[in-house]
This record gives sequence, structure tokens and C-alpha cells, in this order.
Amino acid sequence: MSQIINCHSSNKNKFSIALDYHENTKHEQNRLDYSYNENISYKTYPNAEKIMIKTEKYIIENDFTSCLLSRKSVRDFTGEEISIENLLDILYLSYGINKDNNMFFESRMVPSAGARYPLEIYIAVFKCDKLESGIYHYNIISNCLEFIRKGDYRNKLYEYCNKQDFISNCSAAIIITSVFERTMEKYGERGYRYILLDAGHLGQNIYLTASHLKLGTVAIGGFQDKKINEILGIDGLIETSLYIIALGQPQVLSYV
Ligand SMILES: Cc1cc2nc3c(=O)[nH]c(=O)nc-3n(C[C@H](O)[C@H](O)[C@H](O)COP(=O)(O)O)c2cc1C
Repeated sequence: MSQIINCHSSNKNKFSIALDYHENTKHEQNRLDYSYNENISYKTYPNAEKIMIKTEKYIIENDFTSCLLSRKSVRDFTGEEISIENLLDILYLSYGINKDNNMFFESRMVPSAGARYPLEIYIAVFKCDKLESGIYHYNIISNCLEFIRKGDYRNKLYEYCNKQDFISNCSAAIIITSVFERTMEKYGERGYRYILLDAGHLGQNIYLTASHLKLGTVAIGGFQDKKINEILGIDGLIETSLYIIALGQPQVLSYV
């Protein structure tokens, strides 16, 4: 039994545009038929004066810059387990509370519009030392993992995430959900934009922390919403899945 503290389900009628949009863009089945112009577009001002950035200076023994320079999506995993310490580090350093609450705002590792922190994190654990396979929830307040469902969910994740091969060898999948009301109660329909921005901040923190720990990650945007929500035991309305990030031991690493 889960509990969302301070959540009023009656609010969902007030945010019809954003919630209709979200509902109408959910994937019902796997989508593999994207066709588009593959050329990447860049904007330039050909006639403007140019001030060059020297990139050599960033390639030095420095944790922060090397972490940024080495960030990339990893899809070749060895299939070996990850350590519980690394998993907990990724959760805490990505979304944990980084300062004591002050009178006005809570502060975490990521910014959040109005400090509303609408996101929740679940982990489908496949191979992690000292942890049984199953679904875990990251409890922010106590900074701990909550074991909410036992079982091997790898095949289901593979099935519901466009059958992407790398899921067979990753060690865990981090599933980010949103409790819309937290942000939209304050910002109305516009709050929906902020929730997606918040998810981007969190996603990048997960990428960078994993890169720092020499683990591999890849984001997954294409998944069947309803099926993933069912795995987590959430209703898809008050709380719904937004983003998945696969995590594991990388085959080849080319760190700077
Ligand atoms: C919102 C979002 C969704 C993504 N979904 C997928 C996905 O479903 N499968 C996948 O292999 N990569 C996915 N990616 C990773 C991108 O393909 C990758 O970031 C991009 O190709 C740039 O490569 P890099 O991350 O190695 O720099 C996604 C990235 C983002 C930001």
C-alpha cells in the first residue's frame, strides 16, 4: 500500500489541457515506425563576430569535467551485477535532499520549479548485489529503498520498452514517475512544462553520476505507459510514468 502525502485527487479536474495532452500521447503499443529527416539542424549567425572556446583546457584530471566529457548513452552492457552502494549513490546524488530544509524551500540535487519536486523514482532491479530482484521505490525523506514488489521484471520491461535489446543485459531500470498535482496545484496547466523540465534535470543527474561511477546508462522514452504503470502499481492519472533509464556495467568504456 503506497501513500502520497498531501495529494488531493480532486485537483485533477482542474488541469484538463495538460492531462488530456499527456493521456493522448501515451503509447498503447510499441512504436518502431518513426520516419523523419535524419540530418541534424544547427543555427549559426554567419556574419557575426566569433569568440572561440578552447576545449583542450577541459581535458584535465578533474572529476567534474571528465564526468561531463564522458557522458554518453551506453547500450552495450556486460550483464554483470552492479553494487548496491553504486545504486544508492546514484539515487541520492541524483534526487536526494542536499541541504536541511529551511523555512521556505526544500533543496535537492536538482532544481525544481517552485521547489515542488513532482517526481518519484522506482527501480526495477535485475542484478544487484545484496538486493533481491523486484521493484523498489526511493523514499526521499528517509533516503532509503523500499522493496515494494518481488519478481524478475526484465522480460516485461523488454516487452513494454519497444523490445530494445540492451534491456536483456542491463542490471536495473530506473523508472521516473510524476505526481502532477504537486507542481500543477501551484502553476496550473503551465506546470506540466515544468514537470518535464524537472524530469530532464533528474535524468541528466542520473547520467552524470553513473558516468562518474563508470557505469553505463541509456534513456528510454518509448514505452507503453499503461503497462509500466501497472508494474509499478500506480494509476497513471494521479501518478504516471514519464521516463526510464537503463543502468548497468558497460562493455567498453572510453573515458577521458
Ligand atoms: C527523452 C529521451 C528518450 C530516449 N529514448 C531512447 C530510447 O528509447 N532508446 C535508446 O536507445 N535511446 C534513447 N535515448 C538516448 C538518445 O538516443 C541519445 O541520448 C542520443 O542518441 C545522443 O547520444 P548520447 O546520449 O550517447 O550522447 C533517449 C534520450 C532521451 C533524452
